[in-house]
Amino acid sequence: MTSERFLIEGGHRLQGAVRVSGNKNAAVHTLAATLLTSDDCYLENVPDIGDVRFMLDIMQALGTKVERISPGVLRLNSGDLRTFIAPSELAINLRASFLVMGPLLARFGEAACCPPGGDIIGLRPLDVHLSGFAILGADVRREGDKFVARAPRLRGSRVFMDYPSVLGTQNLMMAATLAEGTTVIVNAAAEPEVASLAEMLNAMGARICGAGGHTIQIEGVRSLHGTSHRLIPDRIEAGTLAIAAAITEGEVDIEEGLASHLDALIWKLRESGVEVEETEVGLRVRRRGPLRAVNAQAVPYPGLPTDLQAPMSVLLTQAQGVSFIYERVFDNRLLYVGELRKMGAEVVTSGTTAIVSGPTPLIGVSVRALDIRAGAALVLAGLAAQGLTEISDIYHLDRGYEALDQKLRSLGAVIQRV
Ligand code: EPU
Repeated sequence: MTSERFLIEGGHRLQGAVRVSGNKNAAVHTLAATLLTSDDCYLENVPDIGDVRFMLDIMQALGTKVERISPGVLRLNSGDLRTFIAPSELAINLRASFLVMGPLLARFGEAACCPPGGDIIGLRPLDVHLSGFAILGADVRREGDKFVARAPRLRGSRVFMDYPSVLGTQNLMMAATLAEGTTVIVNAAAEPEVASLAEMLNAMGARICGAGGHTIQIEGVRSLHGTSHRLIPDRIEAGTLAIAAAITEGEVDIEEGLASHLDALIWKLRESGVEVEETEVGLRVRRRGPLRAVNAQAVPYPGLPTDLQAPMSVLLTQAQGVSFIYERVFDNRLLYVGELRKMGAEVVTSGTTAIVSGPTPLIGVSVRALDIRAGAALVLAGLAAQGLTEISDIYHLDRGYEALDQKLRSLGAVIQRV
């Protein structure tokens, strides 16, 4: 953690081209997957962000050798692990730490990790992960501060997930790659990061089909080998930059902004009056007129991502009329509304719904980033505000966005890190 802050002078129109970094969440998912083999694995397009560093700390504590080959390219080798227990003081740093469980359990028959940390955005249970391991034949219990799972070899089975959890699906999918027999995950998460992880696992010798849909079939194999895998672009960063263009009445080319990963956002932006065009290299986002209020709900993929719910609400503070934003994934992801109101936004909450009235001029004041996406939302508000916005606790933003301030500056924003 640092005491760094962003100072943003609002009112500058964004213009130009910007490239989206490698996907934050896919980065931590694929790092965990490299634990499934003793061979070298190469990951490309890895963003230089806090959550990747946290995940690497955990893996190095397990005994993984990590080498930075060139910017964005890592070589990992887990041929000689010294423990199957994730140290709690590191695991509490991020939610994805629990993803070491599936690979370690599958490969070594034993894994332990404490309930992981992550953003304060609601209850984040682990029942889907734990009951899934148990259905695959593991003995799962709580020992001290950790969950411990043991099984000499997992057995393939049919698993129904109560909720299509992203990390839950990935933990079970990775565990099942080395199980005896076939596993079918029903009601699996369909996020592009799940499909991309399956693609990497298949390149390592796994037999997975259906990933990216809601039923995934995994035929267990005896072992997996090394691979080289390029991370998909970060669809949440792309969406955030698209909203930055829209809120500043700008025109921005978002290279590696994959339209096929952003249907819901593109749909909502167009409905509110923003022009979004698919180009050869990504997306062109342009706003030339007033914004209209729209209703939106954050739901599992392919719906509007919960990680873009706060940024979308900020945009709608500038739209004519009343917008209803329903958060249907996490039960406490509207905390940013308090900060936004300090800037003059007319937003009220009712349960997990934000009701945004607009357009309201935003005013630069001092606000606090409460988590990664809430922080991004405040940056967007700062870009549109009159005067100077000061955002503290920006270490949250640094966990998830690579050089966000530099990228925005390259588009004409006046943003400084102090
Ligand atoms: N849930 C359960 N039982 C479980 C697990 C989850 O009921 O065992 C519920 C949660 O309570 C929540 C919902 O499922 O209501 C969604 O949680 P999910 O498990 O899908 O989220 P996650 O896998 O922990 C990942 C991303 C999040 C992203 C969500 C939803 C990573 C590292 N994190 O979290 O990303 O918001 O999926 O798409 O991949 C972020 O990037 O800022 C972030 C929070």
